[in-house]
Amino acid sequence: MRILRAIGISLAAALLGWTAAVAQTEGDPERGGQLYVENCAVCHGVDGKGRIGARLEAFSGIDPSAVIAQTVTQGIDGTVMPAWGAANGGPLSDQDIADIVAYVVSAFNGTEPIQPLPEYLPPEIARLPDVEGDPSAGAAVYQANCIVCHGEQGRGRIGKALATSWPGEHPELFIRQVVTDGIGGTKMPAWAQSNGGPLSNEEIANVAAYVLTLAPGSVSPEPTTQAGPISLSTGLLVLAGLVVLAVVIGIAYYRRA
Ligand code: HEC
Ligand code: HEC
Repeated sequence: MRILRAIGISLAAALLGWTAAVAQTEGDPERGGQLYVENCAVCHGVDGKGRIGARLEAFSGIDPSAVIAQTVTQGIDGTVMPAWGAANGGPLSDQDIADIVAYVVSAFNGTEPIQPLPEYLPPEIARLPDVEGDPSAGAAVYQANCIVCHGEQGRGRIGKALATSWPGEHPELFIRQVVTDGIGGTKMPAWAQSNGGPLSNEEIANVAAYVLTLAPGSVSPEPTTQAGPISLSTGLLVLAGLVVLAVVIGIAYYRRA
């Protein structure tokens, strides 16, 4: 009996500590800087001065953090700004978003150092026959512009998986056209400089060549694991399990006492 009571008490203590940790969404700007570079810099620029997306500076209002957090969680309909919150089908937890917001309001107001982009050395990839672009150079373009939505090795994330067998006779031309013009009404941006995007025609040819090397079977099948803390929904499941366990132990305990 004493053992059961001890188990019950430590479970209750663990529960309390855990809920307190979940309720706390104070942002950590250092961790947020990392997440910003991985998810946001592609469109807002590493310095927040804008690239495909808006400038992220000079937020006014009573509680800019809350406004930014809401925008990031829900995205902006009718634009390429994705919804990032897990509740909206995005890849980031509430804590991830709180950390990013803490970084955005401090780094772009000059009170926190700007996190640089990491170095990336593209792998050597053999050219495909009859394909114009250079897939090694394309890997670097992919890393800087596409991985955020299409995932590592084209396994998919916010955007579709690109490690696929492409239908049609000219998949290279299809991919180049889609990348050049984007897909209207979706989160797929137009990348060509002729469409106001950041990429030259040569970079687009190179990234198309890289995408074509991602045919299924050429990459390991296991999905990328999402970095970051335990997601809220998983957390709630664990919490529910713990509550059920505590109730069962409690009932057993009082029946016997
Ligand atoms: C695919 C490009 C893209 C990515 C990636 C992206 N954004 Fe955006 N974002 C945009 C665009 C475009 C807009 C402006 C939409 C509009 O026209 O109102 C925007 C708007 C915003 C705004 C509102 C700006 C304002 O002045 O009201 C915030 C805040 C924001 N983004 C934060 C983020 C954060 C944080 C991330 C990373 C988690 C991120 N965005 C990732 C494209 C992007
Ligand atoms: C903001 C997220 C985002 C970014 C960044 C992005 N894409 Fe996309 N992309 C999408 C989405 C979403 C779709 C699917 C649109 C739809 O519903 O048809 C897509 C579709 C595509 C398709 C068509 C896939 C098919 O099966 O028809 C190609 C090819 C593609 N993207 C290549 C790229 C390349 C190359 C880059 C980098 C230069 C890139 N994308 C960057 C979101 C993105």
